[in-house]
Amino acid sequence: MPEKHTVRWGILATGGIAETFTRDLLVDPSTRGVNDLVHTVVAAASSSSASRAKEFLSKVGAPDSAKAYGSYKELVADPNIDIIYIATPHSHHFQNAMLCLEAGKNVLCEKAFTTNAAQTEVLIKKAKEKNLFLMEAVWTRYFPLSIYVRDLITSGKLGVVRHVQADNSTGDNPEESFPDSHRMVNPSLAGGALLDLGIYSLTWVFQCLYTTQPASSRQAPRVSSTITKYHTGVDEASHVLLTFPRSKEQGGDAVGYATTCIRLASDPDGKGSAGPCIRIYGDKGEVQVWWPTFRPTKTRLVLKDGTVEEKNWEQPGPGAGSKWYNGFNGDNNAEGEGHGMFWEADEAGSALRDGRKEGRYESLEESLTIMKVMDEVRRQNDMKYPEKIESTEYPLEL
Ligand SMILES: NC(=O)c1ccc[n+]([C@@H]2O[C@H](COP(=O)([O-])OP(=O)(O)OC[C@H]3O[C@@H](n4cnc5c(N)ncnc54)[C@H](OP(=O)(O)O)[C@@H]3O)[C@@H](O)[C@H]2O)c1
Repeated sequence: MPEKHTVRWGILATGGIAETFTRDLLVDPSTRGVNDLVHTVVAAASSSSASRAKEFLSKVGAPDSAKAYGSYKELVADPNIDIIYIATPHSHHFQNAMLCLEAGKNVLCEKAFTTNAAQTEVLIKKAKEKNLFLMEAVWTRYFPLSIYVRDLITSGKLGVVRHVQADNSTGDNPEESFPDSHRMVNPSLAGGALLDLGIYSLTWVFQCLYTTQPASSRQAPRVSSTITKYHTGVDEASHVLLTFPRSKEQGGDAVGYATTCIRLASDPDGKGSAGPCIRIYGDKGEVQVWWPTFRPTKTRLVLKDGTVEEKNWEQPGPGAGSKWYNGFNGDNNAEGEGHGMFWEADEAGSALRDGRKEGRYESLEESLTIMKVMDEVRRQNDMKYPEKIESTEYPLEL
């Protein structure tokens, strides 16, 4: 039996995704074939009150010994924490991550990493200076499904892959679903489709056209974009065309088309009838991925030689009969089915054990390149956030 390494987590914020992540974190890793890691929650903090943090810990089934703090400052001072998961709105990631890093804590920070690239750059510099682990929590990259897709590309099975289309559109009626103060549409919380949803379309384009290239030949893409603005001033839809420069020997430039919309839907009937939301084209064939773009469970490989291979990628977990449920925002997955956030937690845990300082499937350099793309989309379309949340000054009361 391999020796198990225990990872001691602190949870910063107690909102929707913090709950989903922490429930997944507490699932026995052996249910997904991980036998050398154990995750434990040693504390959670709420900016509103310690009682809110206590309620959160009991709701997610954290150990009785877990501490509940009424401020993020108290959390980062806890000597028993190895790594902090940050689950606040985008606007707050920079200040929260700086707080953790300054206190000597490793960090897994929700997407979008920060409000802008300048803030990401400062975080990377700080993590390096302090020799700490830092990773953007783009969970989808760590799914076995994503590893399979990237392997299809790097193995040459699809031929030269030079075009990717990825859509992440949720089909909400924003006027009904979100008050203007909600983080999805509120400029003061760095709202809008691009940073919240578009990041996943960009993730698919990047993990297929950028991550799969040798590090020495990766080049940032040229960006052309258009957005549709919501009445609060943030984007309700973004269309981003990315041209990745490649030499003739590499098969010439590759093009990605990343789209996102709060109002329209990638999967209007919720049954996949509209077809895949991601298509990855090579000169020998393509691979298709079905909605949800951020948590897909179905792929289809279609090759020119006649091969058609469908695969299902249900998330593991405690299993049927366990009476255990997870999901997001009140939508539960099947009984015993994990949400899939444990894969990124395993990545962070194994990095801490092995001394790696960033995630293997999205380097800090790549997170920064994607933040620069989103900055450029906002610049091209005159979409600005309040100065305070764009600032790289620290500390700053938001
Ligand atoms: N990976 C995914 O699938 C996924 C899904 C949804 C969201 N996310 C990301 O996770 C982050 C949080 O999203 P969420 O849906 O969990 O949001 P949420 O439910 O609104 O929770 C955010 C939490 O942040 C804390 N917070 C601190 N300052 C705040 C402020 N000024 N306004 C609002 N909340 C504040 C609050 O917790 P306390 O009161 O306890 O401090 C709040 O409960 C975002 O970056 C989002 O993009 C990721």
